[in-house]
Amino acid sequence: MPSPSLPSRVRLVDVGPRDGLQNEKGVVPTEVKVALIEALADAGVTAIEATSFVSPKWVPQMADAADVMQRVRRRQGVRYSALVPNMKGFEGALAAKVDEVVVFGAASEAFSQKNINCSIVESIERFASVARAARDAGMKVRGAISCCLGCPYQGEVKPGAVGYVAKLMHGIGVQHVGVADTIGVGTPGATKRALEAALAVYPLDEVSGHFHDTYGMALANVYASLELGVATFDASVAGLGGCPYAKGATGNVATEDVVYLLHGLGIETGVDLAKLRAAGRTISAFLGRPTGSRVAKALDAKVAP
Ligand code: HMG
Ligand code: MG
Repeated sequence: MPSPSLPSRVRLVDVGPRDGLQNEKGVVPTEVKVALIEALADAGVTAIEATSFVSPKWVPQMADAADVMQRVRRRQGVRYSALVPNMKGFEGALAAKVDEVVVFGAASEAFSQKNINCSIVESIERFASVARAARDAGMKVRGAISCCLGCPYQGEVKPGAVGYVAKLMHGIGVQHVGVADTIGVGTPGATKRALEAALAVYPLDEVSGHFHDTYGMALANVYASLELGVATFDASVAGLGGCPYAKGATGNVATEDVVYLLHGLGIETGVDLAKLRAAGRTISAFLGRPTGSRVAKALDAKVAP
């Protein structure tokens, strides 16, 4: 039984195929991406951020977004989402029949410029058209707010900046916000303050945590979020990834590690850790790197001859 103050069930969104692979320098073939997405669904992950409909000049790795979505064998009960920065991206996502689109802004002006080439206010204007079109198409629209705990260009980011962007997103009909620690600098107290700023605007069910693990704080930040009742987290199988516009930032917290933490707390996820590890092993082998998951490493060491 989980502690009465923690959620009894958590929803995990595996962002490995998108946040994880977008940062890879070498081309990852479409079939490898498709196999990863299918393996995650087989492991019981019910929400997968599959790709991004962004400019291929900005992020060449995501240029096969339409192909990925077309080839992937959809599993019933799984939500496949994609990042879209503007209407061009939305049209691609709609044609590819994604279930959910994600607009991505920032709590830092400098990061907004570097990542999507416009100011925060301009980004909201673009997202407003996307949110309207998504609603008309009966599609859910989530928002990601980058740099909620610090910015690689601007330094400190205050909770007020998170609340400001959350309010703007709410005002245009974005249904959910993800509080993102893009560069993984946050600690639990600061993470709670950033989440509280989003929770002043959105209900508990519509706020999630997205924590990169650069400083090794991501699991502590997940736990701090659970204490607030937050029950949705992004995580990346094998800890893959980073952001091409946030140099040095490592991948998202490894999904395997979050699952181990949650199951240890008696919190349900619906994810089969053994199958998830297998998915992580396959993609890590393809990339020629050891897994970024501490839990996968520890469990692998136990079965090694
Ligand atoms: P821009 O250059 O200002 O765009 O980029 P533009 O509107 O001037 O168009 C320039 C060219 O891009 C045109 O093509 C457009 O058609 C094309 P051309 O006429 O030159 O041949 N274009 C597109 N092509 C495909 N799909 C599109 C699209 N839009 C325009 N959607 C833009 C602005 C937003 C497009 C660009 O900056 C961009 O694509 N940025 C994406 C950056 C990105 O993907 N970053 C990583 C994801 S965010 C992240 O990782 C953070 C997150 O994980 C949370 C966290 O950890 O913080 C979510
Ligand atoms: Mg990210």
